[in-house]
Amino acid sequence: MRHKTLVMALSFLCLSASAQSALAGAEEGQELAQEWCQSCHATADQGPGVDVAPSWSSIANDPQKTDDYLRAWLSMPQGQMEHIALTSLQIKDLLAYIRTLKQK
Ligand code: HEC
Repeated sequence: MRHKTLVMALSFLCLSASAQSALAGAEEGQELAQEWCQSCHATADQGPGVDVAPSWSSIANDPQKTDDYLRAWLSMPQGQMEHIALTSLQIKDLLAYIRTLKQK
């Protein structure tokens, strides 16, 4: 488990160095979300997920959930997410992914 996390962290570092466009990280974020968050949060538009966990699209389209707000939440998650520790790069990728779900 520890080894896998390290490999993931390293591959994220490499990817981020080579992709610097506005959407950089969105694909990594989606993979992360599927692997780590999907057990509670529905990915994309598959409904609300578990009772209490909001879906990504509802988060993405809530005007009160600004980038700053989400960054702060993900660097110190609470309640059921308390045990989740994300690096700043993972937070950036997850945020990039969530933003791709925003409907204008
Ligand atoms: C064990 C279940 C669980 C997992 C796993 C989980 N979450 Fe959550 N998440 C929740 C619940 C429940 C809430 C509802 C807010 C609360 O707990 O106060 C939430 C809320 C959120 C919010 C919105 C916070 C707000 O104030 O509206 C974001 C953003 C979020 N989660 C992101 C993530 C990300 C990214 C991951 C994966 C790295 C993740 N969550 C994994 C259960 C989970």
